Amino acid sequence: MNLFNSSPSSNFLPDDLARPLQAASSRLGCLAGPIRWYPEVASTNDTAIALAEQGAPEGSIVIADSQTAGRGRFGRRWHSPASCGLYTSVVLRPTKDALSLLTLAVGVALREGVLVTTGLALVLKWPNDLFIGKRKLGGVLAEACSKNTESQYVILGFGINIQNTVYPQEIASNATSLEDELGYQVDKGLLLTECLVAISKQYELLKNGSSQAILENWRQAATSTFGSTVEWTEGESQHRGVVDGIDDSGALLVRSKAGSMRISSGQLRWL
Ligand code: BTN
Repeated sequence: MNLFNSSPSSNFLPDDLARPLQAASSRLGCLAGPIRWYPEVASTNDTAIALAEQGAPEGSIVIADSQTAGRGRFGRRWHSPASCGLYTSVVLRPTKDALSLLTLAVGVALREGVLVTTGLALVLKWPNDLFIGKRKLGGVLAEACSKNTESQYVILGFGINIQNTVYPQEIASNATSLEDELGYQVDKGLLLTECLVAISKQYELLKNGSSQAILENWRQAATSTFGSTVEWTEGESQHRGVVDGIDDSGALLVRSKAGSMRISSGQLRWL
């Protein structure tokens, strides 16, 4: 594994992250680096996009201790104070076939990483959320670029709240961290390592066309969200329905007054 930082603006990977990564190097598959670590960036996704544009290989990883402009889906802010979470982005160069289930596959992987490290079983909420009970612990932000076939890449960003922190008011009642839930300190290096190992495993499954295994694992981890009521907007009209599950393309299946509907993108409100 390539643990060296070649960028002048990045510091050496701290020991608490480097040691477990090095020990797991044979399990990291295609996520074997190079790794760049920064004390602070605007967004690890932006840093990874810049690297991918310069030709960074698949498996290049950007990690930051804090982000000043961390973002979630739909441009929402991702609260990223220093040393309180895992803020990581990976450069992937998947084929078109591996793209559609990528976010779900990474959800399955992060659940496995957290389970192996802490014993906590997360709930997955379509399409990209990691929950513990009714509170959000983390999320996935996959951003694809396909300007031309040569530079096609996906930046796979994920954030997991590790330490207690004061959350912005708008998410305070809805957010949690691993340490809030467990009541003890979590080994960040181990968590990062097990998440990357699990992502590499799920990504291999995707590339081999083993999507049924991913879908099955995702459904099992999301069962408690099935039966929930959701609202969404389509054009001018507002819809409401009950979640039935996901189909084999990863789209959400919802029962509404208008019948059974498939939602493959867009903003949902869980009620
Ligand atoms: C979401 O829940 O909407 C997704 C949150 C993703 C946050 C991570 S933190 C690392 C990476 N860099 C970002 O700016 N966002 C992702």
